[in-house]
Amino acid sequence: MKKPSSEKLTPQKRSRPLTVAGIMSGTSADGIDVALVRIAPPRGPQNDLPRLRLLAHVAVPYPAAFRRRILQMMNAECASVAEMSRLHWRLGQMYADAVESALQKHPMQVDLVGCHGQTIYHQGVAAPFLGGRVACTWQMGEASAIAARLGVPVVSDFRPADIAVGGQGAPLVPLLDTVAFHHPTRNRVLQNLGGIANLTVIPAGASQQEVFAFDTGPANMAIDALMTELFGRKYDAAGATARRGRVLDAVVRNCLRDRFFHAPPPKSAGREQFGREFVARFLLDCRKKSKQREDAVATATALTARSIGLAWRDFVAPALSDAPTDYIVAGGGVRNATLMKMVREELAVFGTIKVKTSDEFGMPAAAKEAMAFALLAYRTWRRLPGNLPRATGAERAAILGKITYA
Ligand SMILES: Nc1ncnc2c1ncn2[C@@H]1O[C@H](COP(=O)(O)OP(=O)(O)O)[C@@H](O)[C@H]1O
Ligand SMILES: [Mg+2]
Repeated sequence: MKKPSSEKLTPQKRSRPLTVAGIMSGTSADGIDVALVRIAPPRGPQNDLPRLRLLAHVAVPYPAAFRRRILQMMNAECASVAEMSRLHWRLGQMYADAVESALQKHPMQVDLVGCHGQTIYHQGVAAPFLGGRVACTWQMGEASAIAARLGVPVVSDFRPADIAVGGQGAPLVPLLDTVAFHHPTRNRVLQNLGGIANLTVIPAGASQQEVFAFDTGPANMAIDALMTELFGRKYDAAGATARRGRVLDAVVRNCLRDRFFHAPPPKSAGREQFGREFVARFLLDCRKKSKQREDAVATATALTARSIGLAWRDFVAPALSDAPTDYIVAGGGVRNATLMKMVREELAVFGTIKVKTSDEFGMPAAAKEAMAFALLAYRTWRRLPGNLPRATGAERAAILGKITYA
């Protein structure tokens, strides 16, 4: 165990650059991404955004049995409290392992850790419960286990502070999107294709208050579930299965009738909307139209693309100026060539939109969300807010997360 270093680093006191390890494990439950990021304070008072440099990125897949257990636990109708408690601690250990292995490959001194945790339940919209109304969110992974092992403070549990001020607790990546991609003369739309698909809209020259973001619907979550069910695989590598299949249009159209796709932003989704029950219904629908397994995967892939097209038509296009538009994609879905092709086709009707990946901007598609939580940890450490109220629907900006000292 390393010597605690918290006394060297007091929130807000010093504005020196920090090296922050951002830890992300998303709803796909594919594993843990660690981004080691150098974050420097803004250059001058007129520019209030920090400067980021990615030093290294390491991805650590979850062992198969571990992933199965997490997927079972997410949105489980019935789960043992002892199991939940154990999983929470085991995740903390896994996160510490992941950072340690990143630091073995890329030796450096880390000042601070930002850990998103594994979402086990997320309900961004308040609903009646026991005589009151609650929205809630729960990310597992005990931060004390990380802080004790690494000997540095850990910021974790970012989402509740936004929910507490009326937000949906998601999405939280838009601040990074704004810091890294804001452009004076180009519209920038940042698309993430993780378990869920979400996008951030940054009109050319927009102020932070004009940036908005929302989830467009399922992405890899549904595709992965179908691949596991029908082919015994974790995901559709390069989109090869979807490419062989035929899109069942009627099924896509039927899915798109769901209120979620038509509700104006802010809105967020997770396994609660597009998890097990959704996939079971979806598969039943597909099987009524076709016996080909590939067709179900092609149809889920098309649903992702069409829901993005729909969101673009209804919510994105009206917010953009006449300036040229870059559509910058990140997340594991970038590697699904069929999905990327379908998305390109959807957007082609909206004029010349340049489709790029975040890699082209020096930000590896798989590292972006982990970088976002490094940035959010840095903001919290400096007692600065991390949510964008227009993105989450919060009444105000809030300092996110909880600090665990080493
Ligand atoms: N080579 C690939 N081909 C197709 N899909 C891939 C590939 N690599 C990763 N993916 C998809 O990306 C997902 C992980 O994306 P990620 O951005 O980490 O999502 P999350 O944030 O939900 O964890 C995997 O579950 C898989 O569906
Ligand atoms: Mg992931």
